[in-house]
Amino acid sequence: NLVPMADILQDAHQKTYAVGGFNINNMEFLQGIMQGAEELNSPVILQTSEGAIRYIGMDYVIKMVEAATKNTKIPVALHLDHGSSFESIMKCIRAGYSSVMIDASKKPFAENIELTKKVVEAAHNVGVSVEAELGTIGGTEDDHTVEEKDAMYTDPDQAKEFVEATGVDALAIAIGTAHGVYVGEPELDFDRLAKIKKIIDMPVVLHGASGVSAADLQTAVKYGVNKVNVNTDFQQSFTTKIREIFAEKTELYDPRKYCGPGRDAIAEKVKEKIKTLGSNDKA
Ligand code: G3H
Ligand code: 13P
Ligand code: ZN
Ligand code: NA
Repeated sequence: NLVPMADILQDAHQKTYAVGGFNINNMEFLQGIMQGAEELNSPVILQTSEGAIRYIGMDYVIKMVEAATKNTKIPVALHLDHGSSFESIMKCIRAGYSSVMIDASKKPFAENIELTKKVVEAAHNVGVSVEAELGTIGGTEDDHTVEEKDAMYTDPDQAKEFVEATGVDALAIAIGTAHGVYVGEPELDFDRLAKIKKIIDMPVVLHGASGVSAADLQTAVKYGVNKVNVNTDFQQSFTTKIREIFAEKTELYDPRKYCGPGRDAIAEKVKEKIKTLGSNDKA
């Protein structure tokens, strides 16, 4: 009983809140994310990168998510994060994903449109939602000049042309965030976000949200972000907890005794994110 991501994001777009696009790395991530979302009665978008699918195995992803959502009352979407090709996306759709991202943001504008459009046609045919990306989400932004920013960040007029030409359900934009850990404080271009939101008037996605302050995330939501991708913060919660346990109990060998607390640490961090994004009690 997965739902299309578009249904979840339309409500968020209408009511000005954001839903977590939370990355699964293993069973404990899946269980921790579901526990946090269920406790706060929040919709959630479970997502796997292509690397995570290789690590876990596609059959395991599908069966674990099936088990995790069997008796749940919250809306859950299963989403491919940063799909790199039409073939990779079709594999996920055939396996049962309810949403996919095509990331052709490194290709020239016309090619990005062409590939995204092809994915949208195939996915929408079978009720699967599509996220695409325009602009460069990447390195740290602190020392970029205005000209470099204009080249890397999403252009509002191009965004309008892109969503009209492709028919995507959600657009990931570049306004200064980066994947992974930040060196220094990220500086987000909220003016650009507001302009993009006004002109496209549809769900907007923020990648690289780990390491962005709660205040900045809330400002981003206020200006129209409806999906916030988090992976690194949960990886750090899990691993930090395990390091603490190992430091204290050097003789410990039962994985349940450190993966269990790691899973609880993820659930706590998930709840913190959900409250920041305002998706609690929106299920
Ligand atoms: O956007 C990518 C995610 O943060 C995780 O990517 O699983 O390939 O490390 P990865
Ligand atoms: P972080 O690395 O900041 O958690 O970003 C995750 C992400 O954007 C997944 O698509
Ligand atoms: Zn991302
Ligand atoms: Na980040």
